[in-house]
Amino acid sequence: MARSQIIIDYKNVTSAVIGVKDGITPNQLKLLEKKIKPLISKINKQRKAGETPFRDLPYNKRISRRVNAVVKTLRKECDYLVILGIGGSALGNIALNTALRPFLPDPRDKKSGRPELFVMDNVDPAQFGSLLDHIKPHLKRTVFNVISKSGRTSETAAQFMIVREMLINALGKAAYRKQVVATTDAKSGTLRTIADKDKLKTLEVPDSVGGRFSVLSAVGLFSAAMCDINISQLLAGARDMDKKVSSTNFWKNPAAINAAINYHFYTHGKPISVMMPYSYALKDMADWYRQLWAESLGKRFNLNKREVWVGPTPVKALGTTDQHSQVQLYREGPNDKLFTFLKVNNFGRDIKIGPAPDCAPELGFLAGKKMSSLFNNEKKATEYALVESKRPNLTVIFDKINAYAVGQFICLYEVTTSFIGALLDINPYDQPAVELGKEATFALMGKEGYEDFAQKIQSKTEISEDFLV
Ligand code: PA5
Repeated sequence: MARSQIIIDYKNVTSAVIGVKDGITPNQLKLLEKKIKPLISKINKQRKAGETPFRDLPYNKRISRRVNAVVKTLRKECDYLVILGIGGSALGNIALNTALRPFLPDPRDKKSGRPELFVMDNVDPAQFGSLLDHIKPHLKRTVFNVISKSGRTSETAAQFMIVREMLINALGKAAYRKQVVATTDAKSGTLRTIADKDKLKTLEVPDSVGGRFSVLSAVGLFSAAMCDINISQLLAGARDMDKKVSSTNFWKNPAAINAAINYHFYTHGKPISVMMPYSYALKDMADWYRQLWAESLGKRFNLNKREVWVGPTPVKALGTTDQHSQVQLYREGPNDKLFTFLKVNNFGRDIKIGPAPDCAPELGFLAGKKMSSLFNNEKKATEYALVESKRPNLTVIFDKINAYAVGQFICLYEVTTSFIGALLDINPYDQPAVELGKEATFALMGKEGYEDFAQKIQSKTEISEDFLV
């Protein structure tokens, strides 16, 4: 049976729909094809040369074998799974969980043994304290997965140090070891050192794969498999998309088309890119995408080390919620955005809307209709409203949301990012600008060797009475 494919509908970006001033003309599309074609071959070559190892993750059987083996040893005794990580070490886990598990814990979870998942990607003491209160009585039934490629990320390190102390004090060192899985670099880094010394179970963040490209490695697969998400379907979907996005035929390559459209609008006065799922399940995929684009495409220097200061600004929105919050701006504010809707044909369930109360016959138009029909018609209504205001928009259509389709989506957007990086002539795989903030935190928290830096920061961030109201 053919498995459902995600499809991009890009009609609403064309000049035929939104006019020559705002839309892409057939001629411009042909020029984009010419520009991107050699880049497809270049990216395929880089991939063959092993320069983009994230592309090989869906084919790596060793990773899923190791993940499944660790899951097997832990799953039966796990009611709570806590992920400690941030950025690329958290957003993929959150996105997979929201996409592929029900909104609220299913009462059947108790029977299947699926753990409740918490992804802790912040150091807010009120939030973290509340989690600790929640799980403290169940430590022997809680697995902590600390994820950090470097191990020197302050947020994750601090969370881990709190949990480590708590587990050792409450259960002893041997039992602490049983409750923790460390996902980190295979050979080096602070977390690797701790894991080796404390004899923790470990999973690997693959070599040369940046956090935001690592969701299809043990980073994302472990929590997914622990929660019964079908990781083999997830990887199969990614492999399927990987073939399509390798095609040198521009018109058949969805990542090339997606990149071409995004690049066109970025360079034609629409530097903001809004992703708006009409699906609660996909809402955190928009968050994952936001990091992927921001860290990959926001760059000061191009490949020739020339200052370029480029990068589309990714924004996440949620249909229909943000129709009542953002759409006024989207239609009547500056025409500086490209919109990507995510649409789902089949939600896997439906709910019939009840009859209108006698006193409110004006609500009769909703009575007896399906909730999915309201949801998707609202998407259509927003699409129409944007087209009326000559706002370019495209739609990624999911026939249904399952692991296979989500795997396709992840691969589609990762490779789209590579293409836009190539079009902008920048390196999409590094994130040098994030470092300064990390280093400044070290200094402010009193790390040895950072004393002068700490003083410099203090002098620049001092509160001045002159500017307080
Ligand atoms: O995408 C990235 O590379 C970053 O967002 C990192 O994932 C994030 O900074 C966390 O780093 P680490 O995994 O080293 O703790």
